[in-house]
Amino acid sequence: MSGNFLALAQPGVQQLSPYVPGKPVDELARELDLDPASIVKLASNENPLGASPKALAAIREELAELTRYPDGNGFALKTLLAEQCRVELSQVTLGNGSNDILELVARAYLAPGLNAVFSEHAFAVYPIVTQAVGAQAKVIPAKDWGHDLPAMLAAIDANTRVVFIANPNNPTGTWFDTEALDEFLQDVPEHVLVVLDEAYIEYAEGSDLPDGLDFLAAYPNLLVSRTFSKAYGLAALRVGYGLSTAVVADVLNRVRQPFNVNSLALAAACAALQDAEYLAESRRLNESGMQQLEAGFRDLGLGWIPSKGNFLCVDLGQVAAPVFQGLLREGVIVRPVANYGMPNHLRVTIGLPAENNRFLEALAKVLARG
Ligand SMILES: Cc1ncc(COP(=O)(O)O)c(C=O)c1O
Repeated sequence: MSGNFLALAQPGVQQLSPYVPGKPVDELARELDLDPASIVKLASNENPLGASPKALAAIREELAELTRYPDGNGFALKTLLAEQCRVELSQVTLGNGSNDILELVARAYLAPGLNAVFSEHAFAVYPIVTQAVGAQAKVIPAKDWGHDLPAMLAAIDANTRVVFIANPNNPTGTWFDTEALDEFLQDVPEHVLVVLDEAYIEYAEGSDLPDGLDFLAAYPNLLVSRTFSKAYGLAALRVGYGLSTAVVADVLNRVRQPFNVNSLALAAACAALQDAEYLAESRRLNESGMQQLEAGFRDLGLGWIPSKGNFLCVDLGQVAAPVFQGLLREGVIVRPVANYGMPNHLRVTIGLPAENNRFLEALAKVLARG
């Protein structure tokens, strides 16, 4: 007799739904017999610019060393990050994407009997990493789609070890300002690690979003996580980082896999970090694309949630799934967010001007069909 290996999984894992990624272009091309080149994918908050030429050159140079293990300490990248982020080298933890950082936090600080607090409509990886280690997920109702920080604070108890907050949040794009963050951090008990997920922070420069790094010195229970997957355009390489006290970084390093960031990713991230021009162009493109999509939604009489990320959630005022399917048939992939408790919204990543246009035209066509 064989065991029931679902029932044998630990209870938190049994209740988990696996992360649903954006639909790959090749998959849709196969399903609908379409030319992959004709498909527009605005589903995974990727950078539409293509990688920085400097990052590509760094990768080419690194290819000669593929037989060797990467630098397990990521010295060159950590040195650059420490300098740019105004911290010591010992405060930097490198991750296989920033998801890895979130997972390291859960593995190091959560366990059965303990809990993590996060918001409704927050990033899907928070429940995954929490429940995967048998801890309880305390999901706090959102306010106007965003984090209700006072309510999250009130939910913290003696068994809380981690609070995940994203600024801006994915998929909603919502954000909180400096004052709200400061008030929150002042009141979070010292035994709770606050993970401030700033995956999209580079897009928010010059706005009222706080820079998490400004709070690191004052709050030893703060960890800021960031990524090279979004504004730096290196999603495929999987590289992100955490900034915290040296003590927290040391703890995370104890559970980190020895070579969690590969050599190509390390080399490309170093180059991308020094390519200010690319970052500026990413921001410029995002800003104009955001205006283009907002104008398009306005023309279609649709509402949306204002966003500080590289994506927007449009409110279709009806169940979004059939519209999502209709868009697929037009060769346009966006992201349904019903699994985030948002059945009437679709999340659209800001693309190149022509891609945004293709999406808006397809949306108009699908909506007109009714
Ligand atoms: C809010 C948020 N945090 C973290 C991540 C993880 O990104 P990565 O693992 O590619 O760094 C994402 C990716 O979509 C995100 O939206």
